[in-house]
Amino acid sequence: MEQLLDSFGRKHDYLRISVTDRCNLRCVYCMPAEGVVFQPHEEIMSYEEIAETVSALAPMGLRKLRITGGEPLVRKDLDKLITMLSGIPGIEDIAMTTNGMFLTSKAAALKQAGLNRVNISLDSLRQDRFAMITRGGEVRRVLEGLQAAVEIGLDPIKLNVVLMKGVNDDEIRDFIALTLDKPLHVRFIEYMPIGSATDSWRSTYLPLSTVDEVCRAAGWETEDVTGPRGNGPAESKRVVGAAGTFGLIHPVSEHFCDNCNRLRLTADGHIKACLYWSDELHVRPLAAAGDREGIRAMFLKALGGKPKNHEMALALEKKQQSHTPTVRRMSQIGG
Ligand code: GTP
Ligand code: 5AD
Ligand code: SF4
Repeated sequence: MEQLLDSFGRKHDYLRISVTDRCNLRCVYCMPAEGVVFQPHEEIMSYEEIAETVSALAPMGLRKLRITGGEPLVRKDLDKLITMLSGIPGIEDIAMTTNGMFLTSKAAALKQAGLNRVNISLDSLRQDRFAMITRGGEVRRVLEGLQAAVEIGLDPIKLNVVLMKGVNDDEIRDFIALTLDKPLHVRFIEYMPIGSATDSWRSTYLPLSTVDEVCRAAGWETEDVTGPRGNGPAESKRVVGAAGTFGLIHPVSEHFCDNCNRLRLTADGHIKACLYWSDELHVRPLAAAGDREGIRAMFLKALGGKPKNHEMALALEKKQQSHTPTVRRMSQIGG
């Protein structure tokens, strides 16, 4: 069967599935202070429609899935979706990106259903700051969720830290210190100018070279390593002798688009071939009708129009871009 290739020959084996645009938090880089208007329930893909879409794509080379949101764990009975997806022949890895607030009570059922691993967003280890960034989150609950994930074996466990100048850049050292004696994988992510992040981008963006400077100042010798199991764009390092690793995800300062293997499905059933651009195709009606040939054709069409890269940097220099940037917020895409 035809494989999921785009016009630049990039092979796509990774689908990020957003199961809801709702979230129990409102992180400053993801949502505006007033929140967003959530989509009505009837516009959200059912679990059956999501599974139908994945079943159509698996014979085309889809192997890895990531469940995202909003916050995926606000959706009811998510373990039922994981059970459905893990039974689809060809699917080898199912991961989730979560804010971790509900993990303590849900980790066991998710693992049982076939979830392999979690990436947890954690931008500060200090409660006052964490509450400010997430607009009301409790770091203690995330750390408990992390512990639950460790105990139940949802590993490798990765922590996502969006670096923001003047907000959490003085915690880089504390985050790397977490990896010294625990098999945790911290990834520092460059702040991306998407949705509500666009306005504050200039004053908050920090290039990831800062992380190397912190290691030097701490007297830590680091080495490049093959990172933990993953399908995304992180580049991994380790403090020599440490149990865990730290990674860098730099969408802005260094493109990783050349080997992009990712497709996205929004909660309302649109295919996004690239995180950044507005181009989308609505696949949900085909999924609802069980039209697998139609689903496959639509994904190939989306891939045919996938741009070479995101040109985020051009927007920041206020230069002409080749396509129209997305108007969706990060919470409506799932990162
Ligand atoms: P694994 O490597 O499989 O663990 O997952 P991942 O790193 O792809 O997933 P995660 O959801 O943890 O993503 C981490 C960060 O990378 C998020 O901020 C994403 O928005 C960002 N990211 C992932 N894929 C892309 C991409 O295609 N383009 C851009 N610009 N950013 C991406
Ligand atoms: N820039 C960088 N990363 C972001 N995320 C959400 N918004 C942004 C942004 N503007 C990250 C979150 C989460 C993942 C899904 O996306 O930290 O870990
Ligand atoms: Fe919610 Fe994640 Fe967005 Fe934070 S980054 S508001 S936890 S969806």
